Amino acid sequence: MSEKGRLILEMAEQASTCTACDLAETRTKVVFGDGSADSPLMLIGEGPGMNEDATGLPFVGRAGTLLDECLREAGMLRKHIYLTNVVKCRPTLEEAGRIKNRPPRADEAGTCVTLWLEKQIAIVQPSVILCLGAPAANAIIHRSFKMTQERGQWFESKYVRFAMAALHPAYILRQEGEAYDTARQTLVDDLMAARDKAKTAKDEPKTTLF
Ligand code: URA
Repeated sequence: MSEKGRLILEMAEQASTCTACDLAETRTKVVFGDGSADSPLMLIGEGPGMNEDATGLPFVGRAGTLLDECLREAGMLRKHIYLTNVVKCRPTLEEAGRIKNRPPRADEAGTCVTLWLEKQIAIVQPSVILCLGAPAANAIIHRSFKMTQERGQWFESKYVRFAMAALHPAYILRQEGEAYDTARQTLVDDLMAARDKAKTAKDEPKTTLF
């Protein structure tokens, strides 16, 4: 195993007992990350859902299947990227006696980014980060990120020289008909752009604080 792989594994072990926020009380498993710690391309989603919470792996439900399909169409497999989320534990709410997913709160995201995501980025040192959805774009690119206006554009962030946001697979799954096809193709295109950028950015100087 590579040095980065070893360090990520060590950190995942530490994170598996994290109690830094309330999400620890309701989670089953901490979902730390998946893929290659040596990849120049990091994908960051929002947070685990029910299937991820049960298995401990990111993007294994319907959204994950769609992400895997789009990755393949963009010429990549999971082993070619490093995949994680803004928060590592499933945010839930109870509605009419049922447990549902919810977006992470700003305080939960802030705690988890400082404690774990920033350290993951520091180890992996990707050349490119592709944010899947607004919570990741808010954490990595800027706080008032507007998906409708700013998706697909390159930004320099303190974490990485090249950051971009793409539509979240769960959002795409909520679209129907032509809107679904368009949104899905947009994700494939953004994944291809991120792959191409990661290939060419490898040799450029890293200008991040990390
Ligand atoms: N949605 C996310 O943002 N992350 C996952 O791991 C699964 C679904």
